[in-house]
Amino acid sequence: MKWRSWAAGGVALAVAFLAAWLTVFGSRALAASHTERDVQAGRALFATHCAACHGEGGRGDGASAASFATRPSDLADGRLMNGLPDEFLVSVITHGGPAQGLAPTMPPFDRTLSADQIRRVVAFVRTLARPDYRGGPTTLARPPRAPRQPIFFNHVIHSGSFQIPCQYCHADARRSEYAGLPSIERCVGCHKIIGVADNPEIGKIHDYARRGAPIPWMRVFKVPEFTYFPHKAHVRADVACQTCHGPIERMPVVGADTGPGLAHDLARLVGLHPPQRLLTMGWCVDCHRRENATRDTHAPLDCIACHH
Ligand code: HEC
Ligand code: HEC
Ligand code: HEC
Ligand code: HEC
Ligand code: HEC
Ligand code: HEC
Repeated sequence: MKWRSWAAGGVALAVAFLAAWLTVFGSRALAASHTERDVQAGRALFATHCAACHGEGGRGDGASAASFATRPSDLADGRLMNGLPDEFLVSVITHGGPAQGLAPTMPPFDRTLSADQIRRVVAFVRTLARPDYRGGPTTLARPPRAPRQPIFFNHVIHSGSFQIPCQYCHADARRSEYAGLPSIERCVGCHKIIGVADNPEIGKIHDYARRGAPIPWMRVFKVPEFTYFPHKAHVRADVACQTCHGPIERMPVVGADTGPGLAHDLARLVGLHPPQRLLTMGWCVDCHRRENATRDTHAPLDCIACHH
Protein backbone atom coordinates (compact mmCIF):
# COMPACT_ATOMS: atom_id res chain seq x y z
CA MET A 1 0.00 0.00 0.00
CA LYS A 2 2.72 2.30 1.07
CA TRP A 3 4.88 1.88 -2.05
CA ARG A 4 1.83 2.46 -4.21
CA SER A 5 1.06 5.87 -2.79
CA TRP A 6 4.77 6.51 -3.00
CA ALA A 7 4.77 5.66 -6.68
CA ALA A 8 1.61 7.70 -7.26
CA GLY A 9 3.20 10.61 -5.49
CA GLY A 10 6.28 10.17 -7.65
CA VAL A 11 4.24 10.15 -10.83
CA ALA A 12 2.30 13.23 -9.72
CA LEU A 13 5.56 14.94 -8.95
CA ALA A 14 6.99 14.00 -12.34
CA VAL A 15 3.88 15.26 -14.09
CA ALA A 16 3.97 18.53 -12.18
CA PHE A 17 7.65 18.89 -12.97
CA LEU A 18 7.11 18.18 -16.66
CA ALA A 19 4.26 20.70 -16.77
CA ALA A 20 6.45 23.33 -15.13
CA TRP A 21 9.33 22.51 -17.48
CA LEU A 22 7.04 22.83 -20.50
CA THR A 23 5.62 26.16 -19.41
CA VAL A 24 9.06 27.59 -18.78
CA PHE A 25 11.15 26.09 -21.56
CA GLY A 26 8.49 24.85 -23.97
CA SER A 27 7.03 28.31 -24.53
CA ARG A 28 10.49 29.76 -24.87
CA ALA A 29 11.39 27.16 -27.50
CA LEU A 30 8.11 27.93 -29.24
CA ALA A 31 8.83 31.67 -29.24
CA ALA A 32 12.34 31.04 -30.53
CA SER A 33 11.12 28.84 -33.38
CA HIS A 34 8.53 31.48 -34.18
CA THR A 35 11.12 34.24 -34.61
CA GLU A 36 13.43 31.80 -36.41
CA ARG A 37 10.59 31.17 -38.87
CA ASP A 38 10.15 34.93 -39.25
CA VAL A 39 13.85 35.33 -40.01
CA GLN A 40 13.74 32.56 -42.64
CA ALA A 41 10.66 34.08 -44.29
CA GLY A 42 12.31 37.51 -44.09
CA ARG A 43 15.47 36.19 -45.74
CA ALA A 44 13.49 34.95 -48.75
CA LEU A 45 11.57 38.22 -49.07
CA PHE A 46 14.82 40.16 -48.81
CA ALA A 47 16.44 38.12 -51.59
CA THR A 48 13.47 38.86 -53.87
CA HIS A 49 12.77 42.52 -53.09
CA CYS A 50 15.87 44.10 -51.59
CA ALA A 51 19.02 42.27 -52.70
CA ALA A 52 19.16 43.93 -56.15
CA CYS A 53 20.10 47.18 -54.41
CA HIS A 54 21.27 46.21 -50.92
CA GLY A 55 23.04 42.95 -51.92
CA GLU A 56 22.41 39.42 -50.60
CA GLY A 57 24.24 40.16 -47.35
CA GLY A 58 22.72 43.67 -47.06
CA ARG A 59 26.07 45.41 -47.51
CA GLY A 60 24.71 47.92 -50.01
CA ASP A 61 26.52 46.19 -52.87
CA GLY A 62 23.66 44.79 -54.96
CA ALA A 63 23.87 44.49 -58.74
CA SER A 64 22.26 47.91 -59.34
CA ALA A 65 23.85 49.69 -56.36
CA ALA A 66 26.47 51.46 -58.45
CA SER A 67 23.82 53.44 -60.36
CA PHE A 68 22.79 55.39 -57.22
CA ALA A 69 24.47 58.62 -56.13
CA THR A 70 23.45 57.86 -52.52
CA ARG A 71 24.53 54.28 -52.06
CA PRO A 72 21.89 51.84 -50.78
CA SER A 73 22.54 51.67 -47.02
CA ASP A 74 24.86 49.03 -45.60
CA LEU A 75 22.24 47.22 -43.52
CA ALA A 76 24.94 44.98 -42.01
CA ASP A 77 26.76 47.89 -40.35
CA GLY A 78 25.59 47.46 -36.76
CA ARG A 79 27.25 50.71 -35.70
CA LEU A 80 24.73 52.62 -37.84
CA MET A 81 21.77 50.24 -37.80
CA ASN A 82 21.55 49.21 -34.14
CA GLY A 83 20.53 52.67 -32.92
CA LEU A 84 17.53 52.75 -35.24
CA PRO A 85 14.23 51.60 -33.66
CA ASP A 86 12.16 48.94 -35.51
CA GLU A 87 9.52 51.57 -36.19
CA PHE A 88 12.06 53.60 -38.18
CA LEU A 89 12.94 50.60 -40.38
CA VAL A 90 9.26 49.69 -40.85
CA SER A 91 8.49 53.31 -41.78
CA VAL A 92 11.26 53.50 -44.41
CA ILE A 93 10.42 50.11 -45.93
CA THR A 94 6.66 50.75 -45.94
CA HIS A 95 6.59 54.37 -47.15
CA GLY A 96 10.02 54.79 -48.79
CA GLY A 97 13.06 56.91 -47.86
CA PRO A 98 11.28 60.33 -47.83
CA ALA A 99 9.07 59.20 -44.91
CA GLN A 100 12.17 59.74 -42.74
CA GLY A 101 13.88 62.38 -44.88
CA LEU A 102 16.03 59.88 -46.81
CA ALA A 103 16.40 59.76 -50.59
CA PRO A 104 13.42 58.71 -52.75
CA THR A 105 15.69 56.13 -54.41
CA MET A 106 14.71 53.92 -51.44
CA PRO A 107 11.27 52.88 -52.77
CA PRO A 108 8.07 52.25 -50.74
CA PHE A 109 6.86 48.64 -50.40
CA ASP A 110 3.33 49.23 -49.09
CA ARG A 111 1.83 47.91 -52.32
CA THR A 112 4.14 44.92 -52.61
CA LEU A 113 4.50 43.62 -49.07
CA SER A 114 2.01 43.19 -46.21
CA ALA A 115 2.68 44.65 -42.75
CA ASP A 116 3.45 41.12 -41.55
CA GLN A 117 5.94 40.50 -44.36
CA ILE A 118 7.67 43.81 -43.58
CA ARG A 119 7.91 42.76 -39.93
CA ARG A 120 9.65 39.55 -41.07
CA VAL A 121 12.04 41.42 -43.36
CA VAL A 122 12.99 43.63 -40.39
CA ALA A 123 13.53 40.50 -38.24
CA PHE A 124 15.94 39.25 -40.94
CA VAL A 125 17.70 42.61 -41.39
CA ARG A 126 18.43 42.65 -37.63
CA THR A 127 20.37 39.37 -37.94
CA LEU A 128 22.75 40.94 -40.49
CA ALA A 129 24.17 43.51 -38.07
CA ARG A 130 27.84 43.36 -36.98
CA PRO A 131 28.31 44.13 -34.12
CA ASP A 132 25.20 42.12 -33.23
CA TYR A 133 21.87 43.82 -32.66
CA ARG A 134 21.02 43.36 -28.96
CA GLY A 135 17.61 44.98 -28.85
CA GLY A 136 16.79 48.51 -27.78
CA PRO A 137 13.86 50.91 -28.01
CA THR A 138 11.52 49.69 -30.74
CA THR A 139 9.41 52.80 -31.22
CA LEU A 140 10.00 56.32 -32.47
CA ALA A 141 9.06 59.24 -30.24
CA ARG A 142 6.36 61.41 -31.78
CA PRO A 143 5.97 64.33 -29.39
CA PRO A 144 2.97 66.68 -29.56
CA ARG A 145 3.12 70.05 -31.33
CA ALA A 146 5.98 69.16 -33.64
CA PRO A 147 6.07 72.06 -36.13
CA ARG A 148 6.50 71.70 -39.86
CA GLN A 149 10.17 72.65 -40.34
CA PRO A 150 11.59 74.23 -43.53
CA ILE A 151 13.85 71.18 -43.96
CA PHE A 152 13.01 67.69 -42.70
CA PHE A 153 15.99 67.42 -40.36
CA ASN A 154 15.79 64.04 -38.62
CA HIS A 155 17.50 63.58 -35.23
CA VAL A 156 16.94 59.81 -35.47
CA ILE A 157 19.45 59.70 -38.35
CA HIS A 158 21.98 62.25 -37.06
CA SER A 159 21.86 61.29 -33.36
CA GLY A 160 20.31 57.79 -33.23
CA SER A 161 22.14 56.25 -36.19
CA PHE A 162 25.29 58.32 -36.86
CA GLN A 163 25.60 59.32 -33.18
CA ILE A 164 26.92 62.79 -33.90
CA PRO A 165 27.30 64.29 -30.39
CA CYS A 166 24.53 66.74 -29.44
CA GLN A 167 27.08 69.43 -28.68
CA TYR A 168 28.75 69.13 -32.08
CA CYS A 169 25.69 70.96 -33.41
CA HIS A 170 24.38 72.67 -30.26
CA ALA A 171 27.86 73.85 -29.44
CA ASP A 172 27.07 76.72 -27.07
CA ALA A 173 25.26 74.57 -24.46
CA ARG A 174 28.35 74.09 -22.32
CA ARG A 175 29.57 77.67 -22.39
CA SER A 176 26.57 79.98 -22.61
CA GLU A 177 22.96 80.68 -21.81
CA TYR A 178 21.84 79.20 -25.13
CA ALA A 179 22.39 75.77 -26.63
CA GLY A 180 22.14 77.35 -30.06
CA LEU A 181 21.19 75.94 -33.44
CA PRO A 182 23.90 74.98 -35.93
CA SER A 183 24.82 77.46 -38.65
CA ILE A 184 24.24 76.54 -42.26
CA GLU A 185 28.02 76.24 -42.71
CA ARG A 186 27.96 73.38 -40.20
CA CYS A 187 25.38 71.53 -42.33
CA VAL A 188 27.26 72.24 -45.54
CA GLY A 189 30.46 70.96 -43.96
CA CYS A 190 29.04 67.45 -44.09
CA HIS A 191 26.52 67.87 -46.88
CA LYS A 192 28.84 69.27 -49.52
CA ILE A 193 28.78 65.70 -50.80
CA ILE A 194 26.41 63.59 -48.69
CA GLY A 195 22.98 63.30 -50.30
CA VAL A 196 23.17 66.36 -52.56
CA ALA A 197 22.58 64.54 -55.82
CA ASP A 198 19.36 62.69 -55.05
CA ASN A 199 17.85 63.91 -51.78
CA PRO A 200 15.64 67.00 -52.25
CA GLU A 201 15.66 67.72 -48.47
CA ILE A 202 19.42 68.00 -48.56
CA GLY A 203 19.19 70.01 -51.78
CA LYS A 204 17.29 72.66 -49.78
CA ILE A 205 20.36 73.25 -47.60
CA HIS A 206 22.25 74.37 -50.70
CA ASP A 207 19.36 76.59 -51.84
CA TYR A 208 19.57 78.49 -48.55
CA ALA A 209 23.37 78.58 -48.69
CA ARG A 210 23.33 79.98 -52.26
CA ARG A 211 20.93 82.74 -51.22
CA GLY A 212 23.04 83.45 -48.14
CA ALA A 213 19.92 83.02 -46.02
CA PRO A 214 19.82 81.27 -42.64
CA ILE A 215 17.45 78.29 -42.36
CA PRO A 216 14.28 79.65 -40.67
CA TRP A 217 13.83 76.88 -38.07
CA MET A 218 10.65 77.00 -36.01
CA ARG A 219 11.47 77.15 -32.30
CA VAL A 220 10.05 74.52 -29.95
CA PHE A 221 11.48 75.19 -26.47
CA LYS A 222 11.23 78.81 -25.40
CA VAL A 223 10.81 80.50 -22.01
CA PRO A 224 9.29 84.01 -21.77
CA GLU A 225 11.66 87.01 -22.05
CA PHE A 226 11.39 87.83 -18.35
CA THR A 227 12.98 84.53 -17.29
CA TYR A 228 16.62 83.56 -17.31
CA PHE A 229 17.53 79.98 -18.22
CA PRO A 230 21.25 79.22 -18.57
CA HIS A 231 22.17 75.95 -20.35
CA LYS A 232 25.72 76.17 -19.09
CA ALA A 233 24.82 75.65 -15.41
CA HIS A 234 22.68 72.62 -16.21
CA VAL A 235 25.12 70.94 -18.57
CA ARG A 236 27.94 71.44 -16.06
CA ALA A 237 25.76 69.95 -13.30
CA ASP A 238 25.42 66.83 -15.50
CA VAL A 239 21.70 67.15 -16.17
CA ALA A 240 21.26 65.16 -19.40
CA CYS A 241 19.73 66.97 -22.38
CA GLN A 242 17.04 64.28 -22.50
CA THR A 243 15.86 65.00 -18.93
CA CYS A 244 14.38 68.25 -20.19
CA HIS A 245 13.96 67.65 -23.92
CA GLY A 246 12.90 63.99 -24.03
CA PRO A 247 14.40 61.21 -26.19
CA ILE A 248 15.54 63.51 -29.03
CA GLU A 249 17.50 60.68 -30.71
CA ARG A 250 14.20 58.88 -31.34
CA MET A 251 12.31 61.94 -32.65
CA PRO A 252 11.91 62.26 -36.43
CA VAL A 253 10.60 65.76 -35.67
CA VAL A 254 11.23 67.59 -32.40
CA GLY A 255 8.16 68.87 -30.61
CA ALA A 256 6.86 69.45 -27.08
CA ASP A 257 3.84 70.69 -25.23
CA THR A 258 5.30 73.49 -23.12
CA GLY A 259 4.32 76.36 -20.88
CA PRO A 260 1.30 76.93 -18.64
CA GLY A 261 -1.96 75.23 -19.64
CA LEU A 262 -5.50 76.06 -18.52
CA ALA A 263 -6.67 72.45 -18.09
CA HIS A 264 -3.59 71.78 -16.00
CA ASP A 265 -4.17 74.84 -13.79
CA LEU A 266 -7.82 73.88 -13.26
CA ALA A 267 -6.82 70.32 -12.30
CA ARG A 268 -4.46 71.75 -9.66
CA LEU A 269 -7.14 74.13 -8.44
CA VAL A 270 -9.46 71.21 -7.63
CA GLY A 271 -6.67 69.44 -5.73
CA LEU A 272 -5.36 67.02 -8.35
CA HIS A 273 -1.63 66.75 -8.85
CA PRO A 274 -0.86 66.22 -12.52
CA PRO A 275 2.88 66.31 -13.33
CA GLN A 276 4.22 69.83 -13.91
CA ARG A 277 4.08 70.94 -17.51
CA LEU A 278 7.43 71.41 -19.27
CA LEU A 279 8.99 74.87 -19.00
CA THR A 280 6.56 76.18 -16.40
CA MET A 281 7.85 77.79 -13.23
CA GLY A 282 6.61 74.80 -11.20
CA TRP A 283 8.64 72.48 -13.43
CA CYS A 284 11.88 74.44 -12.85
CA VAL A 285 11.33 74.85 -9.12
CA ASP A 286 10.29 71.21 -8.51
CA CYS A 287 13.47 69.95 -10.11
CA HIS A 288 15.63 72.45 -8.24
CA ARG A 289 14.12 71.27 -4.93
CA ARG A 290 14.51 67.59 -5.90
CA GLU A 291 18.11 68.00 -7.06
CA ASN A 292 19.13 69.94 -3.96
CA ALA A 293 17.55 67.30 -1.73
CA THR A 294 19.14 64.32 -3.47
CA ARG A 295 22.44 65.68 -4.79
CA ASP A 296 25.03 68.15 -3.65
CA THR A 297 23.68 70.96 -5.83
CA HIS A 298 22.67 74.54 -5.11
CA ALA A 299 19.97 75.11 -7.67
CA PRO A 300 18.41 78.51 -6.89
CA LEU A 301 14.89 78.95 -5.52
CA ASP A 302 14.99 82.74 -5.11
CA CYS A 303 12.97 84.81 -7.56
CA ILE A 304 15.87 86.96 -8.69
CA ALA A 305 17.95 84.00 -9.93
CA CYS A 306 15.41 83.26 -12.67
CA HIS A 307 13.90 86.73 -13.08
CA HIS A 308 16.40 89.50 -13.57
C1 HEC B 1 15.92 50.42 -55.93
C2 HEC B 1 16.91 50.20 -54.91
C3 HEC B 1 16.45 49.78 -53.54
C4 HEC B 1 15.63 48.72 -53.19
C5 HEC B 1 14.94 47.72 -54.11
C6 HEC B 1 15.58 48.72 -51.74
N1 HEC B 1 16.32 49.74 -51.23
FE1 HEC B 1 16.55 50.20 -49.27
N2 HEC B 1 17.62 51.83 -49.76
C7 HEC B 1 18.01 52.19 -51.04
C8 HEC B 1 18.80 53.40 -50.99
C9 HEC B 1 19.42 54.11 -52.18
C10 HEC B 1 18.88 53.76 -49.62
C11 HEC B 1 19.65 54.95 -49.03
C12 HEC B 1 18.76 56.18 -48.90
C13 HEC B 1 19.49 57.32 -48.24
O1 HEC B 1 20.49 57.11 -47.53
O2 HEC B 1 19.06 58.48 -48.42
C14 HEC B 1 18.12 52.76 -48.88
C15 HEC B 1 17.92 52.79 -47.51
C16 HEC B 1 17.29 51.80 -46.78
C17 HEC B 1 17.11 51.81 -45.36
C18 HEC B 1 17.50 52.93 -44.40
C19 HEC B 1 18.69 52.56 -43.58
C20 HEC B 1 19.40 53.74 -43.04
O3 HEC B 1 20.51 53.99 -43.50
O4 HEC B 1 18.86 54.46 -42.22
C21 HEC B 1 16.50 50.62 -45.02
C22 HEC B 1 16.11 50.15 -43.64
C23 HEC B 1 16.28 49.90 -46.25
N3 HEC B 1 16.76 50.63 -47.30
C24 HEC B 1 15.73 48.64 -46.31
C25 HEC B 1 15.33 48.04 -47.50
C26 HEC B 1 14.61 46.80 -47.56
C27 HEC B 1 14.26 45.93 -46.38
C28 HEC B 1 14.33 46.57 -48.88
C29 HEC B 1 13.51 45.47 -49.46
C30 HEC B 1 12.18 45.28 -48.93
C31 HEC B 1 14.93 47.67 -49.64
N4 HEC B 1 15.52 48.53 -48.77
C32 HEC B 1 14.87 47.78 -51.00
C33 HEC B 1 17.69 51.52 -52.20
C34 HEC B 1 16.87 50.41 -52.30
C1 HEC C 1 28.74 65.52 -38.96
C2 HEC C 1 28.10 65.43 -40.27
C3 HEC C 1 26.72 66.01 -40.45
C4 HEC C 1 26.29 67.27 -40.14
C5 HEC C 1 27.04 68.36 -39.41
C6 HEC C 1 24.94 67.38 -40.67
N1 HEC C 1 24.58 66.21 -41.26
FE1 HEC C 1 22.80 65.84 -42.17
N2 HEC C 1 23.35 63.90 -42.48
C7 HEC C 1 24.58 63.37 -42.19
C8 HEC C 1 24.59 61.97 -42.57
C9 HEC C 1 25.77 61.02 -42.44
C10 HEC C 1 23.31 61.70 -43.11
C11 HEC C 1 22.80 60.37 -43.65
C12 HEC C 1 22.93 60.35 -45.13
C13 HEC C 1 22.22 59.16 -45.74
O1 HEC C 1 22.31 58.07 -45.22
O2 HEC C 1 21.60 59.36 -46.76
C14 HEC C 1 22.57 62.93 -43.05
C15 HEC C 1 21.28 63.09 -43.52
C16 HEC C 1 20.62 64.29 -43.63
C17 HEC C 1 19.32 64.47 -44.23
C18 HEC C 1 18.46 63.37 -44.79
C19 HEC C 1 17.83 62.64 -43.64
C20 HEC C 1 17.06 63.54 -42.74
O3 HEC C 1 17.59 63.89 -41.66
O4 HEC C 1 15.98 63.98 -43.11
C21 HEC C 1 19.00 65.80 -44.12
C22 HEC C 1 17.76 66.50 -44.61
C23 HEC C 1 20.10 66.44 -43.43
N3 HEC C 1 21.07 65.50 -43.15
C24 HEC C 1 20.13 67.78 -43.09
C25 HEC C 1 21.12 68.37 -42.32
C26 HEC C 1 21.08 69.75 -41.85
C27 HEC C 1 19.98 70.73 -42.15
C28 HEC C 1 22.22 69.95 -41.15
C29 HEC C 1 22.65 71.20 -40.42
C30 HEC C 1 21.76 71.66 -39.41
C31 HEC C 1 22.96 68.69 -41.16
N4 HEC C 1 22.26 67.77 -41.87
C32 HEC C 1 24.18 68.52 -40.55
C33 HEC C 1 25.65 64.04 -41.63
C34 HEC C 1 25.63 65.34 -41.15
C1 HEC D 1 23.75 67.40 -37.02
C2 HEC D 1 23.33 68.44 -36.14
C3 HEC D 1 22.52 68.11 -34.89
C4 HEC D 1 22.78 67.17 -33.92
C5 HEC D 1 23.91 66.16 -33.87
C6 HEC D 1 21.76 67.32 -32.93
N1 HEC D 1 20.91 68.32 -33.28
FE1 HEC D 1 19.37 69.04 -32.17
N2 HEC D 1 18.81 70.24 -33.72
C7 HEC D 1 19.50 70.41 -34.90
C8 HEC D 1 18.74 71.27 -35.79
C9 HEC D 1 19.12 71.65 -37.20
C10 HEC D 1 17.57 71.64 -35.08
C11 HEC D 1 16.43 72.55 -35.58
C12 HEC D 1 15.39 71.75 -36.31
C13 HEC D 1 14.54 70.90 -35.39
O1 HEC D 1 13.91 71.44 -34.47
O2 HEC D 1 14.56 69.67 -35.58
C14 HEC D 1 17.65 70.98 -33.79
C15 HEC D 1 16.70 71.10 -32.79
C16 HEC D 1 16.87 70.63 -31.50
C17 HEC D 1 16.00 70.95 -30.38
C18 HEC D 1 14.77 71.85 -30.43
C19 HEC D 1 15.21 73.31 -30.44
C20 HEC D 1 14.06 74.26 -30.30
O3 HEC D 1 13.57 74.74 -31.32
O4 HEC D 1 13.63 74.49 -29.19
C21 HEC D 1 16.48 70.29 -29.29
C22 HEC D 1 15.91 70.32 -27.90
C23 HEC D 1 17.63 69.53 -29.74
N3 HEC D 1 17.84 69.78 -31.06
C24 HEC D 1 18.38 68.71 -28.92
C25 HEC D 1 19.36 67.84 -29.39
C26 HEC D 1 19.94 66.78 -28.62
C27 HEC D 1 19.59 66.46 -27.18
C28 HEC D 1 20.84 66.14 -29.43
C29 HEC D 1 21.66 64.91 -29.12
C30 HEC D 1 20.91 63.73 -28.73
C31 HEC D 1 20.84 66.85 -30.70
N4 HEC D 1 19.91 67.84 -30.64
C32 HEC D 1 21.67 66.55 -31.77
C33 HEC D 1 20.72 69.85 -35.20
C34 HEC D 1 21.34 68.83 -34.48
C1 HEC E 1 17.37 71.68 -17.22
C2 HEC E 1 16.66 71.53 -18.46
C3 HEC E 1 17.47 71.55 -19.75
C4 HEC E 1 18.59 70.83 -20.06
C5 HEC E 1 19.35 69.85 -19.20
C6 HEC E 1 18.92 71.15 -21.43
N1 HEC E 1 18.02 72.05 -21.92
FE1 HEC E 1 17.97 72.78 -23.80
N2 HEC E 1 16.45 74.06 -23.29
C7 HEC E 1 15.86 74.11 -22.03
C8 HEC E 1 14.99 75.28 -21.96
C9 HEC E 1 14.19 75.70 -20.76
C10 HEC E 1 15.07 75.92 -23.23
C11 HEC E 1 14.43 77.24 -23.65
C12 HEC E 1 15.48 78.32 -23.37
C13 HEC E 1 15.12 79.72 -23.78
O1 HEC E 1 14.03 79.98 -24.26
O2 HEC E 1 16.00 80.60 -23.60
C14 HEC E 1 15.98 75.10 -24.05
C15 HEC E 1 16.31 75.37 -25.38
C16 HEC E 1 17.12 74.54 -26.16
C17 HEC E 1 17.37 74.73 -27.57
C18 HEC E 1 16.80 75.82 -28.45
C19 HEC E 1 17.86 76.86 -28.79
C20 HEC E 1 18.34 77.60 -27.60
O3 HEC E 1 19.58 77.67 -27.43
O4 HEC E 1 17.53 78.14 -26.81
C21 HEC E 1 18.23 73.73 -27.96
C22 HEC E 1 18.78 73.49 -29.34
C23 HEC E 1 18.53 72.93 -26.78
N3 HEC E 1 17.85 73.46 -25.71
C24 HEC E 1 19.39 71.86 -26.78
C25 HEC E 1 19.88 71.27 -25.62
C26 HEC E 1 20.97 70.32 -25.58
C27 HEC E 1 21.74 69.81 -26.77
C28 HEC E 1 21.16 69.97 -24.27
C29 HEC E 1 22.20 69.06 -23.68
C30 HEC E 1 23.58 69.40 -23.98
C31 HEC E 1 20.16 70.69 -23.50
N4 HEC E 1 19.42 71.48 -24.35
C32 HEC E 1 19.98 70.59 -22.12
C33 HEC E 1 16.05 73.21 -21.02
C34 HEC E 1 17.12 72.32 -20.93
C1 HEC F 1 15.90 68.48 -14.38
C2 HEC F 1 16.26 69.40 -13.33
C3 HEC F 1 16.20 70.88 -13.60
C4 HEC F 1 15.25 71.59 -14.29
C5 HEC F 1 13.99 71.06 -14.95
C6 HEC F 1 15.65 72.97 -14.23
N1 HEC F 1 16.81 73.09 -13.54
FE1 HEC F 1 17.82 74.86 -13.18
N2 HEC F 1 19.28 73.83 -12.23
C7 HEC F 1 19.31 72.46 -12.05
C8 HEC F 1 20.59 72.11 -11.46
C9 HEC F 1 21.04 70.70 -11.07
C10 HEC F 1 21.33 73.30 -11.33
C11 HEC F 1 22.78 73.46 -10.90
C12 HEC F 1 22.95 73.62 -9.43
C13 HEC F 1 24.42 73.67 -9.06
O1 HEC F 1 25.28 73.92 -9.92
O2 HEC F 1 24.68 73.43 -7.88
C14 HEC F 1 20.47 74.37 -11.81
C15 HEC F 1 20.83 75.72 -11.80
C16 HEC F 1 20.05 76.74 -12.29
C17 HEC F 1 20.39 78.17 -12.21
C18 HEC F 1 21.64 78.74 -11.56
C19 HEC F 1 22.68 79.07 -12.58
C20 HEC F 1 23.98 79.54 -11.97
O3 HEC F 1 24.75 80.12 -12.72
O4 HEC F 1 24.23 79.27 -10.80
C21 HEC F 1 19.36 78.85 -12.80
C22 HEC F 1 19.25 80.36 -12.97
C23 HEC F 1 18.39 77.87 -13.22
N3 HEC F 1 18.84 76.61 -12.89
C24 HEC F 1 17.20 78.18 -13.87
C25 HEC F 1 16.27 77.24 -14.30
C26 HEC F 1 15.05 77.58 -14.99
C27 HEC F 1 14.58 78.99 -15.34
C28 HEC F 1 14.42 76.40 -15.24
C29 HEC F 1 13.10 76.18 -15.93
C30 HEC F 1 12.88 76.84 -17.21
C31 HEC F 1 15.25 75.34 -14.71
N4 HEC F 1 16.37 75.88 -14.15
C32 HEC F 1 14.92 73.99 -14.80
C33 HEC F 1 18.33 71.55 -12.37
C34 HEC F 1 17.19 71.85 -13.13
C1 HEC G 1 13.97 78.17 -11.05
C2 HEC G 1 13.48 79.30 -11.78
C3 HEC G 1 12.39 80.18 -11.21
C4 HEC G 1 12.31 80.67 -9.94
C5 HEC G 1 13.22 80.38 -8.75
C6 HEC G 1 11.16 81.56 -9.92
N1 HEC G 1 10.57 81.57 -11.15
FE1 HEC G 1 8.93 82.68 -11.68
N2 HEC G 1 8.92 81.80 -13.53
C7 HEC G 1 9.87 80.92 -13.97
C8 HEC G 1 9.54 80.54 -15.34
C9 HEC G 1 10.31 79.57 -16.22
C10 HEC G 1 8.36 81.24 -15.67
C11 HEC G 1 7.63 81.23 -17.02
C12 HEC G 1 6.72 80.03 -17.16
C13 HEC G 1 5.48 80.15 -16.42
O1 HEC G 1 4.79 81.19 -16.55
O2 HEC G 1 5.15 79.20 -15.70
C14 HEC G 1 7.99 82.03 -14.51
C15 HEC G 1 6.88 82.85 -14.45
C16 HEC G 1 6.64 83.74 -13.39
C17 HEC G 1 5.58 84.71 -13.40
C18 HEC G 1 4.58 84.93 -14.49
C19 HEC G 1 3.43 83.97 -14.30
C20 HEC G 1 2.40 84.09 -15.37
O3 HEC G 1 1.34 83.51 -15.16
O4 HEC G 1 2.65 84.69 -16.41
C21 HEC G 1 5.67 85.39 -12.22
C22 HEC G 1 4.78 86.52 -11.76
C23 HEC G 1 6.78 84.82 -11.47
N3 HEC G 1 7.36 83.81 -12.23
C24 HEC G 1 7.18 85.24 -10.21
C25 HEC G 1 8.13 84.60 -9.43
C26 HEC G 1 8.41 84.89 -8.04
C27 HEC G 1 7.69 85.97 -7.24
C28 HEC G 1 9.38 84.04 -7.64
C29 HEC G 1 10.01 83.89 -6.24
C30 HEC G 1 9.09 83.50 -5.21
C31 HEC G 1 9.74 83.24 -8.78
N4 HEC G 1 8.97 83.58 -9.86
C32 HEC G 1 10.75 82.26 -8.79
C33 HEC G 1 10.98 80.46 -13.29
C34 HEC G 1 11.27 80.74 -11.96
